[in-house]
Amino acid sequence: MNSSASPVALDPHGLPRHVAIIMDGNGRWAKQRLLNRVKGHEKGAEAVRDTVKTCRELGIPCLTLYAFSTENWQRPSHEVEALMGLLKRFLETEYDNMTSNNIRLGVIGEIADLPSEVRVPLDRVMEGTRANDGLRLTLALSYGSRPEIVHMVRALAAAVQRGDLAPDEIHEATVSEHLYTRGLPDPDILIRTSGELRLSNFLLWQLAYTELFFTPTLWPDFNRDEFIGILRAFQNRERRFGTVDPA
Ligand code: IPE
Ligand code: IPE
Ligand code: MG
Repeated sequence: MNSSASPVALDPHGLPRHVAIIMDGNGRWAKQRLLNRVKGHEKGAEAVRDTVKTCRELGIPCLTLYAFSTENWQRPSHEVEALMGLLKRFLETEYDNMTSNNIRLGVIGEIADLPSEVRVPLDRVMEGTRANDGLRLTLALSYGSRPEIVHMVRALAAAVQRGDLAPDEIHEATVSEHLYTRGLPDPDILIRTSGELRLSNFLLWQLAYTELFFTPTLWPDFNRDEFIGILRAFQNRERRFGTVDPA
């Protein structure tokens, strides 16, 4: 490992509480090698393992990974099936790793739309890691920010209709508590790989003051050194949240 990318160069007190990643570019990674897109997703799963390990080692409390969007259901059925199969395998093979490394798994998204081959191991791993208090790993599966917002609005409207909530009792915190991300701090860092400069329906409410990092690296090539470089760049940014420079 290149010493300039060593964790020693990072300020342990200035680490993000929550990193969110749009893991993009698996298909292009495969295409560049004349491989099937599915090979890119398989290689991408390895980058997931490395990224989880880095977060754990550095002591970053929360990592949220965009693995499958509500729009991704529109991909060819063989690709969707391959992705579901990979997810199932990932959940099965990583269960021991999560248990022994004190990782708590969570999920955000339209979970009811997932096939039972994914829902069953997902429920098992979430249940089995519920008491862990190390890294909080959240997978965004069948996730879209707009469906999440619709779900939140319906829940609040129903509470108002029942007479359990008055409209003027709805505050920003009320909204946050009714999103799938309830209980998670808003991300401090968003990373998108593969050079695309868009959010693709990811965490629209939660990213209001997040620091954004876009890298041309394709997700299967994303590694610890690049991640640490982004963390260092984050530590050099001044977050003002609309106020003025404190100096
Ligand atoms: C990201 O890689 C993984 C998912 C969206 C499931 P892509 O499959 O989008 O890869 P590209 O963008 O086609 O290269
Ligand atoms: C976003 O990537 C979704 C995930 C990484 C899971 P896409 O590849 O689906 O996004 P677009 O189509 O380029 O916006
Ligand atoms: Mg893509």
